Amino acid sequence: MCGIVGYIGTQQAAPLIVSGLKRLEYRGYDSTGVCVLSDDAMRIEKRAGRVKDLENIVDIASIHGSVGVGHTRWATHGVPNDANAHPHTDQDGGIALVHNGIIENYLTIKKKLESAGYSFRSDTDSEVLAVFIGMLYKTLGDLELAVRTALTEVEGTFGIVVVSVHEPDMIIAARRGSPLILGIGNGEYLVASDASAVISHTRQVVYLQENEMAILTRDGFSTKTIENVDTRSVVEEIAFELEQIERGGFDHFMLKEIYEQPITFRDGFRGRLNIEEGSVRLGGLGPVVDQLRQAKRIIITACGTSWHAALVGEYLIEQLARVPVEVEYASEFRYRNPIIHHDDVVIAISQSGETADTLAAIREAKLKGATVIGMVNVVGSTIARETDAGVYLHAGPEIGVASTKAFTSQLCVLTQFALFLGRMKAVSAQQGKDLADALEQIPEQITRILDNAEPIKKIAHEYAQASNFLYLGRGYNFPAALEGALKLKEISYIHAEGYPAAEMKHGPIALIDENMPVVFIAPKDEIYDKIVSNIEEVRARNGRVIAIADDDDEHIARVANHVIRVPRTIPMLTPILASIPLQLLAYYIALERGCNVDMPRNLAKSVTVE
Ligand code: M6R
Repeated sequence: MCGIVGYIGTQQAAPLIVSGLKRLEYRGYDSTGVCVLSDDAMRIEKRAGRVKDLENIVDIASIHGSVGVGHTRWATHGVPNDANAHPHTDQDGGIALVHNGIIENYLTIKKKLESAGYSFRSDTDSEVLAVFIGMLYKTLGDLELAVRTALTEVEGTFGIVVVSVHEPDMIIAARRGSPLILGIGNGEYLVASDASAVISHTRQVVYLQENEMAILTRDGFSTKTIENVDTRSVVEEIAFELEQIERGGFDHFMLKEIYEQPITFRDGFRGRLNIEEGSVRLGGLGPVVDQLRQAKRIIITACGTSWHAALVGEYLIEQLARVPVEVEYASEFRYRNPIIHHDDVVIAISQSGETADTLAAIREAKLKGATVIGMVNVVGSTIARETDAGVYLHAGPEIGVASTKAFTSQLCVLTQFALFLGRMKAVSAQQGKDLADALEQIPEQITRILDNAEPIKKIAHEYAQASNFLYLGRGYNFPAALEGALKLKEISYIHAEGYPAAEMKHGPIALIDENMPVVFIAPKDEIYDKIVSNIEEVRARNGRVIAIADDDDEHIARVANHVIRVPRTIPMLTPILASIPLQLLAYYIALERGCNVDMPRNLAKSVTVE
């Protein structure tokens, strides 16, 4: 949430910051702003809307100066308008700040400042911090000290970048709970919310740690804790290529990412799956193998799409490893004082590795003595760093706000994790080989689905104006139904619900009439006949049925209004193949409705606030 870019060097800062902000827009796109220092003056341009809206009214090239900061906002406090856009300044306009996160005690600080005669131009918590730093600077006369002093009084989360006309050859950055990285260039330094904003300038980065500050000048940078203890920073190489964060000829990132899945899925098992032996090598779990072998229970915690993947994981792990699994929304887990034993293993699943609730959940689990494992996509992210061990998804950067390829990669990793654990227990080499064989075929099967998207487009056209959708599936495909419904509501704004198909008759059936499209996931598995009965129940009430079915299922066309065919796989892997047409259906419906697929309203890619 919120994108930050700062620059200090020899080039013109404004165009460089603006191009970085464009790469960060997926983090928030409610408003945009830049601040550049030049000749002891500060020029700030900020507007509600996207980066291109700012460019339409401001000639970015006319903003001169080689030190500056920029911000794209996902609104927390105050509506998206010009006044609430960042950067915010102190009372005298000599210090500017951009902020990602939430200052929880901002009202207390604001009251204190107001009684000292300070006033405010915006409704934001961030402006309060800027004014507070300004007030402290007046007495301390040292920007770094003023920032540090302010931050020790602040409760909540922040990734901030501060510049000032008082000390114009310096940028100060600090983080607690919201990610920031430093880009190390040649005589130039950047600071940004993530690597995508700096990769066109440098591949060398430093991930700022929790409670760490960085002081950047043209000659170098130093890091220390907010409490002023020097820290040692490790320079790392960005783990992806520039092309991976570009649209590459596709109309939208979401479509590109859907079409990348044959590759990203394969990357998820490459070098891990041993088909001959029916086994899996997950090197990142090395440090916790004994704890895994002895675990009495596994708890998986996650949010949104990652939570849906976790539900599939529950079915997989219980089936293959016979270990009880519980799946928890991270936001609930962290606050309900969960019972955790030292022989529990807690798995956090997250695409971004920065989701605030998931992060808080693993901290709680660690505090209570559990072994904590991460299944994370973004290399070097906070969750990846704070877990005892982990498995990367290797899906590459996911920019589209609606998660697609990360979901199938999560299922890829969870399947292998279940097999890994299962092989330590009751799963035989032959059973392992059968599963590994089936998994190995998935990329080619995904390609076949993607090559046959035309029927899905036609269905999307027919139902694009529906007001509601139901998604139903059973067993492994109940979570796939939840995920299909989430995809549709996120990007098309059509109300959609996912249910276990058999639950329909306990309530949702009341909604069924000729205006209700119902998507059934109906692979030919041991409960196929039950699903067909559920389809008949919908048809008997004039509901419109769209069935996702095996390509050799001849019966289904007799009961469903529309059939979307997917290749046959083993039941355990059916949610992976079913997800592909569900993603495409949501995508094409959203297009038909003229929605902004990559930047759906009110959402942001990485939810770093509670
Ligand atoms: O980065 P994470 O996987 O931790 O994110 C969790 C959710 O915020 C995320 O899956 C969200 O639901 C997506 N918009 C789904 O498309």
